[in-house]
Amino acid sequence: MNVVVIGAQWGDEGKGKIVDYLAEDAQYVVRYAGGPNAGHTIVVDGKQYALHQVPSGILYSDKSVFLGSGMVIDAEAFFNELQMLKDNGINWEGRVFISDRAHLILPRYRQMDKDRDAQRKRPIGTTGRGMGIAYSEKAHRDGVRLADLDWAEKMAEFDGEDKAYLDKYRDQLISMRVNMAAKMHEFKKAKANILFEGAQGAMLDLDSGTYPYVSSGASCAAGASLGTGIGPHDLDKIVGVFKAYETRVGNGPMPSEFNNESEGELCQYVRDTGREYGVTTGRARRCGYLDLVALRYACQVNSLDGLVLTHLDIYDAMDQIEACVAYNIDGKIVTDFPANVEELNRAEPILEKFQGWKTPLKECRDFNKLPKQAKEYIKYIEDYTETPITIVSVGYERNETFIRQNPWKK
Ligand code: IMO
Ligand code: MG
Repeated sequence: MNVVVIGAQWGDEGKGKIVDYLAEDAQYVVRYAGGPNAGHTIVVDGKQYALHQVPSGILYSDKSVFLGSGMVIDAEAFFNELQMLKDNGINWEGRVFISDRAHLILPRYRQMDKDRDAQRKRPIGTTGRGMGIAYSEKAHRDGVRLADLDWAEKMAEFDGEDKAYLDKYRDQLISMRVNMAAKMHEFKKAKANILFEGAQGAMLDLDSGTYPYVSSGASCAAGASLGTGIGPHDLDKIVGVFKAYETRVGNGPMPSEFNNESEGELCQYVRDTGREYGVTTGRARRCGYLDLVALRYACQVNSLDGLVLTHLDIYDAMDQIEACVAYNIDGKIVTDFPANVEELNRAEPILEKFQGWKTPLKECRDFNKLPKQAKEYIKYIEDYTETPITIVSVGYERNETFIRQNPWKK
């Protein structure tokens, strides 16, 4: 069986933790989009791991992990990450593989990415990891794939820094390289459980996100098919991870963002309690009310079977909680997520109020034991998005989670 986990907001929803949690029942964990721009934090027995390119399933010694065709890979950063894991006692030898169709980020792309963003009239606030350059080289048909590493004629065209980089990592990359589509077919025949790990989020997807303020990969659920070689019919379950509130890093519209002047204190509280500082760039994340207009859109365009609610405990101390249920755009009430970024920038959030539960949720392991007010918040989200909340996370640790409906069960 196959389960896809995507971010249902603007990234940083807690995908790493949920993938790690669901990986227990998978044989294989496959990343399908993005690259070193992602930052997935996992906490096991008090030890914290920050992963950027290596799929989160790596922490289980019996799982193999794959970097899919839809990824763009910075080999230097990737091998540094593997070294970090080894230094922490994680033995990954023989269980990390990379698709032969995945593209490489050449070292000079990082600076090109930063320069290009700095020169933009309206900077995106990229992570500066060379993502957009690698994906645009791919679209230009000038990219370098792992499959090309033994194409002598093409390799001979590189010189200087590029050549040194390719020469340095070539053999190691080739030793991990696989025909991903064939692997997917093999696993399907063996009736294996595959977990597809999304990066970024639905609203950062190149096509369905808030373009141009998006990343450049297919971080939508369909990306799991495109970015690995498994056919779309074979994606059995798709779950979307979202936080009890909203965050965004970098620029671009965020209609439910806390107002700096009137909600500055609330913003700082959520940011500090939720540790809303970037894993990849260290930037303070923008924070806001849960945006149900955007979340419902994410549910619709990604065929989400279930939602995973994380960071619910961040609201433990609040008397009252609010969520955005519509936008007021120039006096019009809008509930269908608009494509126009200028409209989104003018959108005023229309908020619904909920009673706080004023109880620590950290120890809760059962939906039925949640305080009534937390259940009401959850029920409202389910009704609004027409999608069940199937997993709830109440802390950073692997075990601070409970399942209402296991995605691995049909
Ligand atoms: P995870 O997987 C949050 C954002 C960047 C920027 C925009 C484009 O940890 O959820 P890029 O460098 O990708 O060209 O930047 O996308 N962004 C993310 N924000 N979490 C991520 O990944 C992100 N990956 C990219 O901040 O606004
Ligand atoms: Mg992140």
